[in-house]
Amino acid sequence: MNLFGDLLKEFGAPGQRLVDLGCGTGNSSVELQKNGYKVTGVDLSPAMVSAAEGKEEMRGIDFFVGGLADLPLPSAKFDAAISAGEVFHYLSGDEELDAAFAEAARVLVPTGLLVVEVNTELSFRVLSQAPNIRSSDHGFISFSPLAPADFSPGGAIDLEVDSFARVEGGLWERSVTRHRLRHLTHERILESIASAGLEFVSVRGFHGGVLEDGLDNGRHPKALYVARRADSVD
Ligand SMILES: C[S@@+](CC[C@H](N)C(=O)[O-])C[C@H]1O[C@@H](n2cnc3c(N)ncnc32)[C@H](O)[C@@H]1O
Repeated sequence: MNLFGDLLKEFGAPGQRLVDLGCGTGNSSVELQKNGYKVTGVDLSPAMVSAAEGKEEMRGIDFFVGGLADLPLPSAKFDAAISAGEVFHYLSGDEELDAAFAEAARVLVPTGLLVVEVNTELSFRVLSQAPNIRSSDHGFISFSPLAPADFSPGGAIDLEVDSFARVEGGLWERSVTRHRLRHLTHERILESIASAGLEFVSVRGFHGGVLEDGLDNGRHPKALYVARRADSVD
């Protein structure tokens, strides 16, 4: 199952050149490569990019270190741009959010598609109230709120992220990081899409492993926004 690939097919990306924005260690990139896309990955973290480059399965994918608001990529080169996971929630404020959408628009060809995954209000409420544990590539990760029950729509939450990875000899390695994630309201996302000169195409809520039409903040923990670049270049 690849939700991004399905949406790009449904709404008709004009070709196969795709940029994965905030690619991390390349999990989303490699899935899209398997779907037939010629993938380029960009991430702010040199450590993430070098971990991605070190994986055998990433052969054929080009990786770059760079920020969403200032992409180290040429204009009008990609048929699709996607962002998987919480990447857009790391942007520091409205200005950086607008810049990220504008940069995505810049690197897309006319009629190119952008698909951005976000965590909804439901997700932020859950994360802000109690520790949450998920499995990861090598073990599991726990997300603990630093200031419980202090969330309101459009606001930020601070999390401590404890990653436990199984290493050689049956031992476990723990790493602890702190993250500030900013919730993005539906209205704010639509404003940013419009300010970038993109056309809003659709939003799908994610529930129980499938995408559903529309967005219900009480039901969908995640949402995928689809936008399209206009078919003439300014
Ligand atoms: C949760 S990971 C998602 C990784 C990947 N997309 C996936 O689904 O596996 C979030 C990633 O966003 C990256 N990131 C955060 N802020 C960023 C920015 N301003 N520009 C580019 N990447 C950013 C982080 O370095 C991290 O690798």
